[in-house]
Amino acid sequence: MIYFDNAATTLQKPPEVEQAVIEAMHSLGNSGRGAHAATLSAARKIYQTRELLARLFHVTDPQQIAFTSNSTESLNTAIMGVCSQGDHVITTACEHNSVLRPLYRLEEEGTIALTIIPADRYGGIDYEEMEKSCRPETRAVVITHASNLTGVVTDIRRVSRFAREHGLLLIVDASQTAGSYPIDVEELGIDILCFTGHKGLMGPQGTGGIYVRKGIDVRPLKVGGSGVHSFDHEHPTVMPTALEAGTLNGHGIAGLDAGVRFILDTGVEKIHEREMKLAQQFVDGIMDIPRIHIYGHGGHGENVAIVTLNLGDCDSALLADELWERYEIAVRAGAHCAPLMHEALGTEKQGAVRFSFSYYNTEKEVETAIWALHELAEE
Ligand code: ALA
Repeated sequence: MIYFDNAATTLQKPPEVEQAVIEAMHSLGNSGRGAHAATLSAARKIYQTRELLARLFHVTDPQQIAFTSNSTESLNTAIMGVCSQGDHVITTACEHNSVLRPLYRLEEEGTIALTIIPADRYGGIDYEEMEKSCRPETRAVVITHASNLTGVVTDIRRVSRFAREHGLLLIVDASQTAGSYPIDVEELGIDILCFTGHKGLMGPQGTGGIYVRKGIDVRPLKVGGSGVHSFDHEHPTVMPTALEAGTLNGHGIAGLDAGVRFILDTGVEKIHEREMKLAQQFVDGIMDIPRIHIYGHGGHGENVAIVTLNLGDCDSALLADELWERYEIAVRAGAHCAPLMHEALGTEKQGAVRFSFSYYNTEKEVETAIWALHELAEE
């Protein structure tokens, strides 16, 4: 199989990741629930992973990072946890449903007012429009760091300046960038960073996290066992326990630890460079195919290694099936949980076929995909 569905989940992980999960399953108890060797080993492993993530995202205090099961949980926690009655929130048409649906829910319940900044047909957003949409009651900007459909990277510096000027919270969805594009929460002025473990961070599914800048209160989505202050009615409010009710996925976190270690050892810049080289090789090889349409490459600055396309008016699911059945090339077709982005691109009916590359893909695999698309286009 040739796997180009890394924006959904990276399949090939560093071998240490699997090893770490297996070892953890034999040795880790329940972190923070006792004082015997197994529980202490779990606590140590989890703290160590927090430290690695803090290094990766330039977070000063690792305790400001809480573990969750994925970006969706982190984004729900962030959005539901900071918005109150009467708030206005700004987001964009580039968002995944993990941002849109929690916001729609709050809007439909009458809790917030929502402004969605439109995207153009190249997947870019109008930052001036965003700035114009600010109101006295605006509380937050919730924005993706890179679109899961076009791969276009948001100018977070600019959004951050705007947020600072107006005292807004900046909540960033790093699902498509964590591990494969540099993130410095301090330098970028990010208040809340939501990330998943199973994509660029090379960890197992069911891992992820949320960074919350010190001083910001996030009302937790869930409360319960914390291992401390058991007689209190209230769940502890101190990070990270505040956002970590219940047993953590220690075994998964051990795998995430190995994934993040690999990223830190290799270097995010090097990973990004390698992935972009593969994406560029792919674009160069297919751009002369008659009736091919590549989305999101309209000169909007930087990209992550996602190339989304259509071939004439061929249904995207059909093209993806042909790629799989005839060439064993795995891609993702359809709507990618990004409805507004598809509307902006004009692909809401046809969908689109997404190729997403990882550090572990090879030039030879890209060549095969180029050749396959040429062959399918001729037919
Ligand atoms: N959010 C993931 C994707 O874009 C699953 O495919």
